Amino acid sequence: MVRFCDWTAVASFMAQLALAQAHYNPPYHSYSYSCSSFSSLSSLTSHSIGSVSTSSSTSPTWTGIPGASSFQAPAGFPTSAFSSYYPVPSGQEPQPALYDPVLGITYPLNLTNPDTIPDEDEDPVYYPKPIAKLSSDEQKVVISNVMSEVSEIITGNYIVGNCSKCIAALSVAKSAAQLAPSLVPDAMVQACTKFGLHSANTCKEDFDAKTFGAIWTQVLAFADVSGLDGQYICNSLSSTFCPAPAMSPLNVTEWFSKPKPANATKPAASGKHVKVLHLSDFHLDPRYKVGSEGNCSSGLCCRNGNLNVNVPKGDISYPAPMYGAYECDTPYDLGLAALQAVGPLTGTSEKNPLAWSIYTGDLVSHDPQTELSRLYTEYAEDSVYGMFKTYLTGPVFPVLGNHDSNPEAIDAPHSLPGPLGQQMSWNYDHVSRLWKHEGWIDEGTAEQARLHYGAYSVKNHYGLRMITFNSDFWYHSNFLNFINTSNPDVSGTWKFVIEELQAAEDAGERVWLFGHVLSGWDGSNPLKNPTNLFYQIIDRYSPHVIANVFFGHTHEDQVMIYYANNGTVQNRDTALTSGWIGPSVTPLTNLNSGFRMYEVDTGTFDIYEAYTWYSDVNTYPNLVNTTHGPTFKFEYSTREVYGQAAQWPADAPLNSTFWHAVTEAMEADHRLVSQFNTYEGKSSIHSPNCTNAACAEAKICYMRSGSVALGQACPQGYGSVQSPFKPVK
Ligand SMILES: *[C@@H]1O[C@H](CO)[C@@H](O)[C@H](O)[C@H]1NC(C)=O
Ligand SMILES: *[C@@H]1O[C@H](CO)[C@@H](O)[C@H](O)[C@H]1NC(C)=O
Ligand SMILES: *[C@@H]1O[C@H](CO)[C@@H](O)[C@H](O)[C@H]1NC(C)=O
Ligand SMILES: *[C@@H]1O[C@H](CO)[C@@H](O)[C@H](O)[C@H]1NC(C)=O
Ligand SMILES: *[C@@H]1O[C@H](CO)[C@@H](O)[C@H](O)[C@H]1NC(C)=O
Ligand SMILES: *[C@@H]1O[C@H](CO)[C@@H](O)[C@H](O)[C@H]1NC(C)=O
Ligand SMILES: *[C@@H]1O[C@H](CO)[C@@H](O)[C@H](O)[C@H]1NC(C)=O
Ligand SMILES: *[C@@H]1O[C@H](CO)[C@@H](O)[C@H](O)[C@H]1NC(C)=O
Ligand SMILES: *[C@@H]1O[C@H](CO)[C@@H](O)[C@H](O)[C@H]1NC(C)=O
Ligand SMILES: *[C@@H]1O[C@H](CO)[C@@H](O)[C@H](O)[C@H]1NC(C)=O
Repeated sequence: MVRFCDWTAVASFMAQLALAQAHYNPPYHSYSYSCSSFSSLSSLTSHSIGSVSTSSSTSPTWTGIPGASSFQAPAGFPTSAFSSYYPVPSGQEPQPALYDPVLGITYPLNLTNPDTIPDEDEDPVYYPKPIAKLSSDEQKVVISNVMSEVSEIITGNYIVGNCSKCIAALSVAKSAAQLAPSLVPDAMVQACTKFGLHSANTCKEDFDAKTFGAIWTQVLAFADVSGLDGQYICNSLSSTFCPAPAMSPLNVTEWFSKPKPANATKPAASGKHVKVLHLSDFHLDPRYKVGSEGNCSSGLCCRNGNLNVNVPKGDISYPAPMYGAYECDTPYDLGLAALQAVGPLTGTSEKNPLAWSIYTGDLVSHDPQTELSRLYTEYAEDSVYGMFKTYLTGPVFPVLGNHDSNPEAIDAPHSLPGPLGQQMSWNYDHVSRLWKHEGWIDEGTAEQARLHYGAYSVKNHYGLRMITFNSDFWYHSNFLNFINTSNPDVSGTWKFVIEELQAAEDAGERVWLFGHVLSGWDGSNPLKNPTNLFYQIIDRYSPHVIANVFFGHTHEDQVMIYYANNGTVQNRDTALTSGWIGPSVTPLTNLNSGFRMYEVDTGTFDIYEAYTWYSDVNTYPNLVNTTHGPTFKFEYSTREVYGQAAQWPADAPLNSTFWHAVTEAMEADHRLVSQFNTYEGKSSIHSPNCTNAACAEAKICYMRSGSVALGQACPQGYGSVQSPFKPVK
C-alpha cells in the first residue's frame, strides 16, 4: 500500500523553507542564461557576395615567423584523407565511409547525409530507481496530483515571489521523480508549455525524455531541491526565478595533504625550444549542405531546410559556400584545409615534427539535441581524431568538451546510485580506446581515462606532465551539477587533479593543466564553487609546478591570469600562472577560423613564443570556381604585439608576469585592448570594436579573472565578440 502525501501541506512547508532561504539571498547578480542548448546569435552585418576580400594591408612586418607566412589550400579536399567514401552529389561535401576501430562498425551514410538528418535519438535513457513500486495507474495519479499542485503553486497567491514558487514547485515535483520517474519528462514538457517558460518547441527540446528530460528527472530525484540545489536549479531555469546563489564556504586547507613549500623552485630552462600546437573547437559538421541557407534565422545554419524567414519562401539569402560560413560549423573542406595548413605555417613536417599538440575539446557540431545521438558523437570522435592522426605530426593530447557527449554537456558523477553513475561510460571507453589506437597514450593511461571521465595524467616524451580534466563538472549546462551544489567536487575530478599535482610536486615535475570550459574571463560559463576551488589549486601548485593552463570553449582568442591569495592583490609579483584560451577552427559565430602554436622550453615548459594563424571566412563565397581553397595566414606573434609595450625582455618567457605587464600597458594605452579585441575574433569583419574606456576596462578585468567570482565582479557585456557588446549598467 502506498500512502500519498498531502501535497498542500508539503508545498506550504516547502514554501516556508523557501521563504526562509530567500532571506539569505545574496544581492542579485545579473546574467542571463537559457537552458536551451543552442540559440543562434543573429547579428550579422551584410556580406557582399562575390566581392573581393578587403583584408587590411597595414599589418606590421613580422620578424622570425616560424614557417610560410600564408598557405593556400588546394581546391576541394585531399581524397587521401580517408580510405573510402560514399558517393555524394557533385559540389557537396565528402562523406567518408568511416570505420570505427573501437566499435568495429562503419558509420552508415544516413547518419551524416545532409538530406536525411534523423530527429529521433534511439539511445537508452536512464531514470532514478523509484522508491516505491507503483502500478502504472498509480503513477499516473501521482503525476496528475503533482501537476495540479504545481499549477496551484504557480498560479495561486498562497506562495509569493518567483523564487519561492519555483522552489515549492520543485519540492512537489521531486515526489513525482521518486515515484513515477519515467512519466516526469512528459509532465515537464507540459508544464513548461502551459506556464509559458518557453515556446512549445523549446520546451520539447529542453525536457523531452530523449533530450534532457530524463536527466532533469535524475536532478529532481537526487538534488536537495528545497535547499541550495533548488536555488541553482531555479536560477538556471530562469534568472527571473531565483537570483544566483552566493559562494559556499570552502575550507582550503583540508584539500591539500601538504602546505605549499616555502622554498619551492622550478627546474631551470634548457634553452631548447620545441613547437607545440594548440587546436580547439573543431566542431566538424558532416551534415553541412553546400548551397543551403548560410544565414538562417535560428539554430545551426548551412543545414538543409533551416531557412531565413525574412526572405521569400524558396529563396536562399546567403548560399552556404564550400568552405564554411560565419553562422555555420566546420565542413570537411574547411577542416582539412586548416589541417593541411598546420605543417607549412608552423614550419613542421614528418622530418621535423611538432613536439606534441594539445586539443582543448569540442568535436561535434551544434545541432539541436533532437538531432544528436551517441553514434553521431562517436562519429565525430572517430573522424576528427583520425584526421589529426593523418595531418598532425607528433602525438596529440585531447580533452573532452561539452559537445563531446550525449546529451550535450551531460556527464554523470560516479556517486549517482546504481547504473546512473556509469551512464556516460560508453563515451570514456570510446575516446580512451581511440586515443590509444592513434598511439597517443598507452594502455595504463587509457584505463585511467576510462575511470576519470575521459581525463588523464601523463608524462610526455619531453618530461612535461600533462594533466587534463573533464570541465563538464563545472559547466552550467551539465544539469547533473545541480546535485549537491555546496560540494565543489561531487565527481572527484579535483581530488584527482590535486593528487596528480601533488605527485608532480614530489617528483619535481612541471605540469600543463588543461580542460575545455574556461574557469573565468567574464565568469559566464562555469559554476562558482568549483572554480573557487580550482583557483586555490592553482595557487597551491603555481608557479613551481603548474607552468601553464589551457582551455577552449569560447571559440575566441583570450587569456586569463591567475594570482596568489585568491586574486586579492593583482600585480606582477602575485601573478602565478596564465590560462591560454585557444582560438577555434569553427567560424561559429561570426568568427574567423584559426589555430595557435607555442614555442616551449624543454626544461621549464614555459612558453617563449605564441603564433596565431587565421583564415578570413568572409572571402569564402569568392572561392566558387577557383582552382584553390581557403588561405590560412599569419595573424600575429604575441611577443611582437605586446612585448615592447610591456617592456618585456626578449629572452624572458611569456608567463603570467608578462601577461600582467601587458594588462598594465593596456591600462596606459587602450589601443592595445582594441588590438587584443581584434585578435579575439581572429580578425573577423563581424567583431564589434572595443574602442571606448568602458570596453577596455572590462577586458582588462576579464584578463585578470581566473574564476567565476572574479569574472562576475567585472563590468559585464563585453565578454564575447560574436555579437555587438551589450554593456550591463
Ligand atoms: C542575415 O539575415 C539578417 C536577417 O534577415 C540580415 O539582417 C543580414 O543582413 C543577413 N546577412 C547576410 C550575410 O546575408
Ligand atoms: C541507416 O542505415 C543503417 C545501415 O544501412 C540502417 O541499419 C538504419 O536503419 C538506417 N537508419 C535510418 C534512420 O534510416
Ligand atoms: C517572475 O517570472 C515571470 C515569468 O514567469 C516574469 O515575467 C517576471 O518578471 C518575474 N518576476 C520577477 C520579479 O523577476
Ligand atoms: C579546515 O580544515 C582543516 C583540516 O581538515 C581543519 O584543521 C580546520 O579546523 C578546518 N577549518 C575550519 C574553519 O573548519
Ligand atoms: C627547502 O626547505 C626545507 C625545509 O623547510 C629543506 O629541507 C630543503 O632542503 C629546502 N630545499 C631547497 C631546495 O632549498
Ligand atoms: C549528495 O550528498 C549526499 C549526502 O552527502 C550523498 O549521500 C549523495 O551520494 C550525494 N550525491 C551525489 C550524486 O554525489
Ligand atoms: C616570468 O618570467 C620573469 C622573467 O624571467 C620572471 O622574473 C618571473 O618571475 C616569471 N614569473 C613567474 C610567475 O614565474
Ligand atoms: C561557377 O561556374 C558555374 C559553371 O560554369 C557557373 O554556372 C556559376 O555561375 C559560376 N559561379 C560563380 C559564382 O562564378
Ligand atoms: C570597427 O572598426 C573598423 C576600423 O575602424 C571598421 O572598418 C569596422 O567597420 C568597425 N566594425 C564595427 C562592427 O563597427
Ligand atoms: C575567493 O574570492 C572570492 C571573491 O572574489 C570569494 O567569493 C571566495 O569565497 C574566495 N575564496 C576563498 C577560498 O577564500
